[in-house]
Amino acid sequence: MPVVGFHQTRRPRQTPAGRLRRELSWPRPGGIVISAIGAALVFGGALSVTPATDAPSPMAAAPTSSSSTTPAPSQVPTPGAAAPTEGTTQPPSSAAGTLSASGLTAAPIPPSTTAPAPALKVAGAAAGSPIQKLFATDGLAPTDNALRNIANPNSPLVLVNKQRPLVPANYSPSDLVTPAVLSGSSEPVLLRAEAATATERLFAAAAAQGIRITVMSSYRSYETQVSVYNGYVAGKGEAAADSTSARPGFSEHQTGLGLDIGDADAGTACDFNSCFADAAAAQWVAAHGSDFGFLVRYLPGDESVTGYLAEPWHLRYVGIAVAQDMKVLGISSYEKYLGVPDAPGYK
Ligand code: DAL
Ligand code: ZN
Repeated sequence: MPVVGFHQTRRPRQTPAGRLRRELSWPRPGGIVISAIGAALVFGGALSVTPATDAPSPMAAAPTSSSSTTPAPSQVPTPGAAAPTEGTTQPPSSAAGTLSASGLTAAPIPPSTTAPAPALKVAGAAAGSPIQKLFATDGLAPTDNALRNIANPNSPLVLVNKQRPLVPANYSPSDLVTPAVLSGSSEPVLLRAEAATATERLFAAAAAQGIRITVMSSYRSYETQVSVYNGYVAGKGEAAADSTSARPGFSEHQTGLGLDIGDADAGTACDFNSCFADAAAAQWVAAHGSDFGFLVRYLPGDESVTGYLAEPWHLRYVGIAVAQDMKVLGISSYEKYLGVPDAPGYK
């Protein structure tokens, strides 16, 4: 019976010339338009978009409005960027100190100064990681510093995994709404406002192509996750439970940015099952989810990174810019995209 619920790479030493080449090559041709549009949507007004009107008859209530302006926690230490350590001081050339063409003694060549480290755009993500590069252009980064932090539960960029619990553990978003989408479960459908709008768009686009995606599970409070996780432990033991269900305080569902999907036309046998990967809905989101800001968060092959068996039904909203950039770069896990350590197990 289906049950709901379920590195830091050292930057290569760079010469000033190499650094300049890198800067000139970013953003990548062809990527800037997508990224700029994405970032604008993610951080500049996705909330104002009218929900799709051609969505299938919702079984859930229409979206409820709620303020999306959530005060950011005052924590968020900006991790120090690893300042370049390579010395760029060059030995004086043999010409230094000799007579110049004018007959005057040439001034010594001053030592070149070490270039300042580029500012981190996303606190908590590794210097030089893909996400830092994506937001290297000021106009692309969120203007709210607090939201540029993968430890901020209020940020669409928040990283939650077995090594990164939500802080506080009982975090609850303040802008949960019910998206106008099909539900395949008796659970209330709740997502943060921005993710809800993106879900409506995603589902409507799929429906326009004859694919009826349903929500099987969405926001889950800390307390709900206690029930879900304990149910798994009771059913199959702690080790097996930990491969499929997050412990309370460690689930993306608690952020209001994660949801599990089903396929209204595929029966229920493969709900929350690996065979769901063959369902039209799963294949559609795998192909198009990034265009709406979603990752299929737990992919086969990434078990040792995410700590979970593949979940082709679990989507995580990160915003269009990031989701599309990950797709373009071919990076499957959010951990690798952020340049942070793998999270195969709990501390
Ligand atoms: N099934 C995923 C890992 C969760 O419980 O959040
Ligand atoms: Zn899930």
